[in-house]
Amino acid sequence: MGLLEGKRGVIFGALDKQSIAWKVAELCVKEGAKITLTNAPVAMRFGHIEDLAKQLDTIVIPADATNDEDLDNLFEKSMEYLDGKLDFVLHSIGMSINVRKKKAYTDLRYDWMMKSFDVSAISFHRVMQSLWKKDAMNDWGSILALTYMAAQRTFPNYSEMAEAKALLESFARSFGYHFGTAKKVRVNTVSQSPTITTAGSGVKGFSDFFNYADKMSPLGNAPAEACAEYCVTLFSDYTRYVTMQNLYHDGGFSSMGMNPAVLEG
Ligand SMILES: NC(=O)c1ccc[n+]([C@@H]2O[C@H](COP(=O)([O-])OP(=O)(O)OC[C@H]3O[C@@H](n4cnc5c(N)ncnc54)[C@H](O)[C@@H]3O)[C@@H](O)[C@H]2O)c1
Repeated sequence: MGLLEGKRGVIFGALDKQSIAWKVAELCVKEGAKITLTNAPVAMRFGHIEDLAKQLDTIVIPADATNDEDLDNLFEKSMEYLDGKLDFVLHSIGMSINVRKKKAYTDLRYDWMMKSFDVSAISFHRVMQSLWKKDAMNDWGSILALTYMAAQRTFPNYSEMAEAKALLESFARSFGYHFGTAKKVRVNTVSQSPTITTAGSGVKGFSDFFNYADKMSPLGNAPAEACAEYCVTLFSDYTRYVTMQNLYHDGGFSSMGMNPAVLEG
């Protein structure tokens, strides 16, 4: 449809084919955008991002999203490679060592918690601050981060990532004010259904929960490909006045109280 014809963007977080960011990157290019890809230097070793770059005829610029110099370098190089300022940025980053090591919520390590918040949430502020200081966004651009509903409701196995997502969503609102006022740039979060990916599957009992959410949602869980389609609309010119929102992309899960289908087993 050419929804992103002539636009330039940076996509964080494509690790492998299952990554939500992978699908977003593919669709952005299909819709006419020019993009650069980025991920943490360590992800270069065990992921497949170079394959995606080849497929999409672009480059990967490694950046640890908790490192300000890496981010400054990423946006400078991206503007150089893409030959202009950016129209959209996707933050698709999440990591918790406490979750990975299956620590109980009542026995968390705080140094790991700080790391989770830095990687999964403060990195979003860092990304926006770097874009701001470099004046790297075009007017009417769009900045998005992916989140999960555990920021609003309790999902015990999601552990401290719930607080990380609450912080992430708050940064979208607060920075959305500044970016909106100064540059007409919008900032939103998309709250996605459980999705089978490396980060998703790290959550204890993920596959049972995935099936539960699928039954609870009138439309079923939203797949990663549909999430990519939603993100593309939010990068397009058709959503220019949507900002500072947390937008559910979850097949209706967040509005449900009870679904008889769940009781039927
Ligand atoms: N999978 C789900 O069920 C689900 C549901 C809702 C929201 N989300 C969110 O979607 C986003 C993408 O996750 P995904 O499910 O595609 O999994 P994924 O594992 O494919 O992606 C997570 C990415 O974060 C990157 N990352 C980790 N530390 C980093 C750092 N320091 N600097 C830069 N990048 C770093 C990883 O390398 C990886 O590419 C996350 O924010 C996640 O919380 C996922």
